[in-house]
Amino acid sequence: PKAEAAVPPSQPSPSGGRGKTFWATASALVIGGLGVIAGILGWRSTIAPVTLSAPVYSQATIERGRTLAAIGDCAVCHTAAGGTPNAGGRAMDTPFGTIYTTNLTPDAETGLGRWSFSAFQRAMREGISRDGHYLYPAFPYTAFAKTSDDDLQALYAYFMSLPAVHAPTPPSDLKFPFGIRALMAGWNALFHDPAPMQPVAQQSAEWNRGAYLVNGLGHCGACHTPRNALGAEQGGSAFLSGAMVEGWEAPALTALASKSVVPWNAEALYRYLRHGHSPQHGIAGGPMAEVVRELAAVPDADIRAMATYLASFNAQTSEAVARTQAQRAVADAAASRARLLGPAQRMFDSACAACHHDGDGPTLLGANVPLALNSNLTGARPDNLLRTILDGVREPATREIGFMPAFREALSDAQIAELAGYMRARFAPQEPAWKDLPQAVARVRAAPH
Ligand code: HEC
Ligand code: HEC
Ligand code: HEC
Repeated sequence: PKAEAAVPPSQPSPSGGRGKTFWATASALVIGGLGVIAGILGWRSTIAPVTLSAPVYSQATIERGRTLAAIGDCAVCHTAAGGTPNAGGRAMDTPFGTIYTTNLTPDAETGLGRWSFSAFQRAMREGISRDGHYLYPAFPYTAFAKTSDDDLQALYAYFMSLPAVHAPTPPSDLKFPFGIRALMAGWNALFHDPAPMQPVAQQSAEWNRGAYLVNGLGHCGACHTPRNALGAEQGGSAFLSGAMVEGWEAPALTALASKSVVPWNAEALYRYLRHGHSPQHGIAGGPMAEVVRELAAVPDADIRAMATYLASFNAQTSEAVARTQAQRAVADAAASRARLLGPAQRMFDSACAACHHDGDGPTLLGANVPLALNSNLTGARPDNLLRTILDGVREPATREIGFMPAFREALSDAQIAELAGYMRARFAPQEPAWKDLPQAVARVRAAPH
């Protein structure tokens, strides 16, 4: 198979000849090893281009495809900032470099216009483009592979029904050796399981529907499951145990890994996914806001199914226990306020307290989730809290959440670090203090927003 990136000239080694030989040999072995696998598996054929004639899909199928595309967030990734929806061109930063999403509109030259259904099906199941080149797993085909043929047909029908837009995909810019697409054959052999999902007989139909959506088109694990050094989602107990994505922390969704004060249950998950906030956990901000916005097009039954499935990973706490836990956390936060008098508290009282109470305040100015229950305060990292303070809540997932101003200009790094340290001590006294807050503020402030 043809490598896409040229081999860069070898770099002089700072550690002298021996180190250079060692690393050169080691990387040659690794690349050679992946290359052999790629050589065996890596040759994939081109699927002949087709010329589409009159549409053959019913309006009902196209509409079903539209809903499925919303569950899959296709338009979130496949739309450039300010660009035509689904015409691609959004840059995705990965640890291995930058790649761009492709044009999914039926343009013959730059989009899916000459793709047969089998070419689309192969891309979604195996991560291989129509002309045979391998796709990177920044495209969540590892999850999409679980989608049924019937649903893939509806998705295909929907994309073919869109107006064609001419929009070439910018070339990717990946570090060596990741620019060599054929190496993905080795990656797939190690990490990708294209087998369709088998329903679990002991579970309800609703649970199975939820599992199908969460692990398939919903690709929730793409953000919520930590990845290994080669960018593959980890299995076993790491499933949905929380990960960093686009500079945000996607918190753990399972009881064992989650630090949330009140464990998630089906009702809370449903509310969060449907309305973008949960009174016992917080709001859907950052990349999760986009997910919730897309889910608005998805019927209630499917949202409930996802909630039912995810709730099965969480200890069943009764409503009464959850309420007691929540009340205790809010009372603890109020008690710690008295102990933490100082400049940070004055800053909180003047800049934040008008909108944020301890959970007893009015909800006129938005959802007003008690900060003592908010995942951003109980998480292991301060990133989501710092992002919220720096950038506010400017594009809430739903109107009922409300707006929060950005404090990027109003507060210095030192002030934000002090405020965050204070908030942790007051609202999450059960958790250890965050370390190195001033550096964390500088890092988060410098990240693209
Ligand atoms: C998390 C971001 C993300 C989401 C969500 C996503 N894609 Fe993609 N997709 C990508 C990226 C990135 C590529 C390009 C991969 C590459 O060049 O190796 C891609 C490539 C593709 C391709 C291959 C196109 C080609 O010309 O080779 C198809 C088909 C595709 N996506 C369909 C979809 C569909 C359908 C959905 C929704 C169900 C979807 N994608 C959702 C990121 C995404
Ligand atoms: C593009 C990345 C991404 C995808 C895809 C994604 N999430 Fe999230 N999710 C996040 C981030 C980031 C947060 C934290 C948002 C915040 O606190 O403002 C989050 C938060 C959540 C929370 C709240 C967690 C807490 O403790 O506050 C739930 C529940 C959730 N996601 C469920 C899901 C489900 C279900 C799916 C699949 C349908 C999904 N997510 C897909 C990134 C993602
Ligand atoms: C004008 C009203 C207003 C002010 C002032 C304000 N906020 Fe907010 N804030 C909101 C709203 C509305 C939300 C979203 C609803 C909610 O979480 O209650 C929010 C959400 C939050 C969240 C939760 C985000 C999430 O993902 O769950 C945090 C943390 C937060 N604010 C911290 C602060 C801090 C710290 C200050 C002061 C520096 C502040 N806010 C000032 C209105 C405000």
